[in-house]
Amino acid sequence: MGFWTARQERALDEREVDALWWAWRQACEGAGLCTRVDTVTGPTVTVPRLVDVVLGPPVVLTVQLLPGQLLGDLRRVALRIAPHLGAVALRVTALGQIHARIELLGADPLDGTVGLPLPAAPGRVLLGRDETARDLVQSWADVAHTIVQGVTRSGKSVFTYGLLSQLAADPLVTLCGSDPTGLLWRPFAGIRHAAWQVSGVDDLAAHEALLLALVEDMDARISSMPADRDTVEITPAQPLRVVVLEELAALYRVADAASTTKDPIGKRIRALIGRLLAEGAKAGYRLVLIVQRAEAAIVGAFERAMCSLRISFRTDNRASVELLHPGAPAELADQHTVACPGVALLSAPGEELTRFRAPYLGGYPEYVAAVRAACPPDQSGPVAIAA
Ligand SMILES: Nc1ncnc2c1ncn2[C@@H]1O[C@H](COP(=O)(O)OP(=O)(O)OP(=O)(O)O)[C@@H](O)[C@H]1O
Ligand SMILES: [Mg+2]
Repeated sequence: MGFWTARQERALDEREVDALWWAWRQACEGAGLCTRVDTVTGPTVTVPRLVDVVLGPPVVLTVQLLPGQLLGDLRRVALRIAPHLGAVALRVTALGQIHARIELLGADPLDGTVGLPLPAAPGRVLLGRDETARDLVQSWADVAHTIVQGVTRSGKSVFTYGLLSQLAADPLVTLCGSDPTGLLWRPFAGIRHAAWQVSGVDDLAAHEALLLALVEDMDARISSMPADRDTVEITPAQPLRVVVLEELAALYRVADAASTTKDPIGKRIRALIGRLLAEGAKAGYRLVLIVQRAEAAIVGAFERAMCSLRISFRTDNRASVELLHPGAPAELADQHTVACPGVALLSAPGEELTRFRAPYLGGYPEYVAAVRAACPPDQSGPVAIAA
């Protein structure tokens, strides 16, 4: 009896493997992950060879890439292939130089929240977790500037809360910036970072004064740079200045509305931010620009070029993804218009375009508690520079 059952099961498995083999072949052909050679007897199509199938669960395929193919080529069409293999998504990882491991996923690997372990390792920031369950950890000193875009309720502020909670305790970092929404800097009241923070839109002059103070500080740092260095040394006395510009479009909108021919405050604010972007990186300045859409009127090509870390939460259309991630696969960009809050695309130096989920600290109360725990209010109080 056991013998017959085992035989039956084996036959079923073989049928399943056959079905996967065919599905793989046809899906690759349909998605263009193949080479096509015209011969006298008609076209010959070759797809990456399926060298192993584990029925699992989870079902795992091992394939050998065709000559000239890269893992990125496979990842780019994964969304086109997955449904034909009976999966919602594929988790594609490298196996040596020319093989790939493909795990068939029954659910989006980015479903479910990612926690934020605190305190963070000094100087390092968890940006999120990617589809292969890899933690994306970034050394803040290694990036230039960052731009974050996303439609309303897509997770920009939550991401920023996570960033600030991780950096707040670092003695080598000062958290600075301008926040028209008035929420970002509230937990910092009375602690060392607060001297470099301005909130709300009632007092535009305060925003300008802050940016002027930052530019002056940057200039002073550059002019006192020793002759044998091309970047300033980051020390507790000369910390990294992470300048968060939350809802930058709102700041520009208010500043432009208040501008007159005699007093063009909008232009002045744009010019100051432009200088920080262009010259700040070597002086230990790291700007984080947060906008709903990185359109040219707010973030021109120059500003975009200065941002080496580019993050898009849900966007309203494919074109918005293109603004920060030129060359992103169309199907990925389309899928991103319905992304869940907290799910984003990341472009970073030396990294392929990566889909990830940002960490979730909890709500606003958790953010306040995390900042307070990282930076108790009894630390040397601020001297308001932008008052
Ligand atoms: N990483 C995440 N994980 C889980 N849920 C999240 C995550 N990020 C955001 N959310 C959910 O989405 C909601 C909206 O997020 P958030 O306030 O950050 O959006 P936003 O992009 O800043 O929107 P707005 O432009 O309106 O300020 C949050 O209240 C939270 O419920
Ligand atoms: Mg927000």
